[in-house]
Amino acid sequence: MSDRPRVFVTRNLPGRAIEVLREQAEVEVWPGEMPPSPEEFRDRAASCDAILTLLTDKIDEALLDAAPSLLIVSNMATGFDNVDVAAAARRNVLVTRTPGVLSETTADFAFALILAAARRVVEGDCYAHDGSWRTWGPETLLGHDVYGATLGIVGMGGIGMEVAKRARGFGMRILYTSRTRKLDVERDFGAEFRSLEDLLRESDFVTLHAPLTDETRQMINERTLRLMKPTAVLINTGRGPLIDQAALYVALKEGVIAGAALDVTDPEPMPKFDPLLTLPNVIVTPHIASASVATRSRMGMLAAENLLAALRGEVPEHAVNPEIADSWRERLKVRFG
Ligand code: GLV
Repeated sequence: MSDRPRVFVTRNLPGRAIEVLREQAEVEVWPGEMPPSPEEFRDRAASCDAILTLLTDKIDEALLDAAPSLLIVSNMATGFDNVDVAAAARRNVLVTRTPGVLSETTADFAFALILAAARRVVEGDCYAHDGSWRTWGPETLLGHDVYGATLGIVGMGGIGMEVAKRARGFGMRILYTSRTRKLDVERDFGAEFRSLEDLLRESDFVTLHAPLTDETRQMINERTLRLMKPTAVLINTGRGPLIDQAALYVALKEGVIAGAALDVTDPEPMPKFDPLLTLPNVIVTPHIASASVATRSRMGMLAAENLLAALRGEVPEHAVNPEIADSWRERLKVRFG
């Protein structure tokens, strides 16, 4: 058996990540535009020491059972709801992620959606393209102001904080809800802590930045949508299942809230005939909030660095399950000495 570690990367990546991995490992890269199927993924992972994965890859019991020599799952995303972390921990497989490097880019995009929904940018673009624009109209495509409005940020991690920073520049009143109070954000951006319910009642724009967990799944549902203002707009750049989409459709159709802008949906991709796509007050983009050239390259590089650090026996700062470090290192030692 070659002593070089064997790594499977589930898609080609922007930037130098794969080159850097190849300097220290035998690397196979899945060549398709679409992710490998579960069978193909299990087949490729079967003899690997490490895999570099994306949010489209499911790392579940079946995959882990098919890859008995697997030591590291390096997920190129800040979210890791695609990984069964408990199952990985039971097998002493270390899981890492790539937070931080995408916070500003994702916050920029959340703001793009806030502005686009408030000022009807997508409707205006269609109006100009389809020949409807016949004159300047004093009542044409009137939207709502972002400056001076109240923004509710759900989840105050790295991305939520960058959104707050931008909101401050727009002169917005900032409310937030989070598992813990963030006194630095309160001090630096004048953000006020609220319960989710109070935040929904008071906000003109609600933007979701919470991780997807059993507690947050469908936190926006029929009951919580009814707490929102009829003029409010819901923005989601977190994860699709944070919202009960059937309830959202009804709320938008019945005027319970005014609009939504979704970069993430449940499922992804959103099916072409999803009823939400028939509504003029919904903007949908294909999970691209972190999709800038520089940021995707940084994410790839951080995922590669996490993987290589782990192969050296270091527990990267962005390990999701560092509590298994001792028993994981034992496995690493058996494999590489
Ligand atoms: C993107 O959605 C990520 O979690 O990085």
